[in-house]
Amino acid sequence: MSIRSRIAGIGMYVPQNIFTNNDLARYMDTSDEWITERTGIKERRYADRTGETTTTMGVEAAKIAIERAGITAQDIDFIVFATLSPDYYFPGCGVLLQRAMQMKEVGALDVRNQCSGFVYALSVADQFIKSGMYKNVLVVGAEKHSFGLDFSTRGRNVAVIFGDGAGAVVLQPTEKENQGILSTHLHSDGASAEILAMYNPGTHANHWVKEAKLADFDDAEIGEMFFSHAMIDKAQTYPFMDGKSVFKVAVEKFPEVIKESLDANNLQTTDINLLIPHQANLRISQFVQKKLQLRDDQVFNNIQKYGNTTAASIPIALCEAWEQGRVKEGDLVCLAAFGSGFTWASALLRW
Ligand code: ACO
Repeated sequence: MSIRSRIAGIGMYVPQNIFTNNDLARYMDTSDEWITERTGIKERRYADRTGETTTTMGVEAAKIAIERAGITAQDIDFIVFATLSPDYYFPGCGVLLQRAMQMKEVGALDVRNQCSGFVYALSVADQFIKSGMYKNVLVVGAEKHSFGLDFSTRGRNVAVIFGDGAGAVVLQPTEKENQGILSTHLHSDGASAEILAMYNPGTHANHWVKEAKLADFDDAEIGEMFFSHAMIDKAQTYPFMDGKSVFKVAVEKFPEVIKESLDANNLQTTDINLLIPHQANLRISQFVQKKLQLRDDQVFNNIQKYGNTTAASIPIALCEAWEQGRVKEGDLVCLAAFGSGFTWASALLRW
């Protein structure tokens, strides 16, 4: 019997501070109606500005996951940390978490895959467990988006979507028949890398943005510095998103990568007990559900409460679903994500 990895413990952390759509309307020209209709989001959490970071939120989620796995932080023998909003440009959040949790001098790897970051991180951890190299791998997805959003009307198409939070799992080996991660599937297509991106600060020196002919980047001078006053003046240090283009590709790739995971295991959509899609946008999840003809009870969404928390959205949703008794032993759970890059991924697991 070959070794598989299973989720032995799961935890989540969201900040106390709730920001409703009406709260956002105090800063920008938007409305509860617009946001609800386009995204399904009603509220999101924002980290304490100075008291919480991406890493500290990751630590809180990790503590719960580790406790639920019945181990201690000293038992962890590898860390994979997924985020697009790291505490520092470098080093990564993995080492900050290692220090904060007083772990042994174990390996720490940061994953920069945005919305599909958690599934990518899970897949990496899965390989380490299956190969027999590690016994307790901590996988964290955490984001502090609120620090890097443009809360003026200029940035409203992006700012209203994102929220802060963290989720974590501990992966351990299992030899139980029909339990654990059955397979993971990872994809990328860099052709549309600039459609959903934060260009600055960076080393691109206008190389790619010129090729992509981005209207906002007609001022050649701006990107030629790693960081400049002009970037700040022109609001080019915020994320850029062509929402319509993202939507179109997302609703194609989500079903595709979910089907791929089912086909690889000779299973059908009717076998899925719970699909946890990356919480990008409720409309995207609903589109995917309809396309795959899944019942309401087969899909879990909580974007209404937390917004899009990028690398944290899947572990937060999975944790809530588990806490609500929606994931039970033997259930077939599918995790699927799509995001910036573009990158997309799925993981099929038997709980
Ligand atoms: N409040 C009010 N009006 C707004 C807001 C806002 N927050 N944001 C944009 N608008 C305005 C625009 O200025 C525009 O006005 P105009 O017609 O006068 O120019 C109008 O609303 C329509 O703007 P669009 O950007 O065309 O809006 P769209 O209908 O495409 O909806 C949205 C935007 C919700 C982002 C949509 O494109 C979408 O869902 N895209 C998918 C992207 C996504 O979900 N990304 C999540 C992150 S990526 C990921 O996780 C995969």
